[in-house]
Amino acid sequence: MNFIKVNNYEELSKKAANLIAAQVIVKPNCVLGLATGSSPVGTYKNLIEACKNGDITFENVTSVNLDEYVGLDGSNDQSYRYFMNDNLFDHINIDKEKTFVPNGCAADLKAEGEAYDAHIKALGGIDLQLLGIGLDGHIGFNEPDSFFTAETHVVDLDESTIKANARFFESEADVPRKAITMGMASIMQAKKVLLIANGANKKKIVEKAFFGPITPEVPASILQLHPDLTVIYSEN
Ligand code: F6R
Repeated sequence: MNFIKVNNYEELSKKAANLIAAQVIVKPNCVLGLATGSSPVGTYKNLIEACKNGDITFENVTSVNLDEYVGLDGSNDQSYRYFMNDNLFDHINIDKEKTFVPNGCAADLKAEGEAYDAHIKALGGIDLQLLGIGLDGHIGFNEPDSFFTAETHVVDLDESTIKANARFFESEADVPRKAITMGMASIMQAKKVLLIANGANKKKIVEKAFFGPITPEVPASILQLHPDLTVIYSEN
């Protein structure tokens, strides 16, 4: 594991964007696994700038996102599809047809999960997976449990996740209670994993996840077994 401590969010965002840009330069038709939430917003801003400056091109890139709320479609401004369009895809030269987010409105969510995994496999897997980490140690929406789940599946969000994500909604009651998330197989099979975390409130969980025992009670701890993991953490 390459654990990098930086001084602030700007530095974190720059470093993370540089690693993703390097991936895109080395393999222009790569598959990027992407995340939503507050952590990657700065990284995406840097990537947009690099694309606008002509330093990188997303022309041939495919993306697969980690997760989506159940019941929110892409036109809902709280959906993760909307977030991705708004924070990245609308501002870079990626072909939107090659950007994939699980469909949280699928009539059969189990079939949607199976099709999502099959699609990732057909793409040849993920070259670089970007992750944030939840206060309870979740990655994607893989919440603490007594076992790790391999496939893309529907989860009940933990109380702490609902509370943490309430900041994006009008009220806590509006936060969806379920999500569909990529499971550990596609994440762990990614050739490279890059996890970014910032804030003093993430310090404890980062220590537990990367310097504590590997346990499904701390889902991110499984990443200690990944052969090419970079963690960038800023306490500020
Ligand atoms: C989002 C995701 C989540 C977030 C995590 C941290 O697609 O998969 O695991 O990365 O909840 O969220 P922030 O960055 O908002 O603290």
